[in-house]
Amino acid sequence: MPIPTPTTSSTPSTPSTPSTPSTSSTAAITAPFSRDPRRAPDDAREPTRSPGLTLRRAGLQDASALADLLSLPEVQPWLLQLPYSSEAFWRERLGKTPDLQSGELQLLAFDGDRLLGSAGLHGVGGQARRRHVMTLGMAVHPQAQGKGVGTALLQGLIRQADDWLGTLRLELTVYVDNHRAIALYERMGFEVEGRLRAYALRHGRYVDCLTMARLHPNPPRWD
Ligand SMILES: CC(C)(COP(=O)(O)OP(=O)(O)OC[C@H]1O[C@@H](n2cnc3c(N)ncnc32)[C@H](O)[C@@H]1OP(=O)(O)O)[C@@H](O)C(=O)NCCC(=O)NCCS
Repeated sequence: MPIPTPTTSSTPSTPSTPSTPSTSSTAAITAPFSRDPRRAPDDAREPTRSPGLTLRRAGLQDASALADLLSLPEVQPWLLQLPYSSEAFWRERLGKTPDLQSGELQLLAFDGDRLLGSAGLHGVGGQARRRHVMTLGMAVHPQAQGKGVGTALLQGLIRQADDWLGTLRLELTVYVDNHRAIALYERMGFEVEGRLRAYALRHGRYVDCLTMARLHPNPPRWD
């Protein structure tokens, strides 16, 4: 399945401010899509144009494509997913989070109707004293990697967390040899906080992970 390279613009774009917040699970928004390597770590605050790329919340109709994406041999080993993901699993999981007020978000990136990537923003459990914390994970189709799709998805999650949920702390784990992902997270303001030894089994070997986190650079205030 050929996936065209998303086009890029050399013209700085106007930051887009959503005029009317939408509560529709199918509302597509134009994704930020910047390829300027000089971006500051907190460039999630500076959305740019993303011709051809749209982001929207995942729905039940995406379960099959999501299972296929997360089963790809170039993707699955880098996650905590087991091989042979299933559409039924994703239908159940997506069906369990219909409550938009939970703040949880499974965000998908599309070129037309082709699924290019997915990123999930989740709570970390029921403890009241950790309501300010969320975790995330993401995956981009191998043919679309290195073209800014991951950046656009992560910017989308960070905007949700920063601007609409007031999340103070975003945290994640990443395999210690996942250099592309670590570079992306660092560029978006995440810092390594520690190394988790033998964190997960991968291809028959235990692999270390890094734990990374990003604190809201400008937590919401009342003015
Ligand atoms: C990690 C992942 C989500 C990144 O998505 P992506 O669409 O490729 O990301 P982007 O293109 O937006 O950015 C990738 C950045 O890493 C850089 N990069 C690419 N290969 C790299 C490498 N080997 N070492 C360091 N940096 C690398 C790119 O140059 C790019 O930075 P730039 O925008 O400053 O040029 C994607 O590669 C992926 O799905 N991998 C498999 C699953 C996975 O690892 N998920 C994350 C689990 S924690």
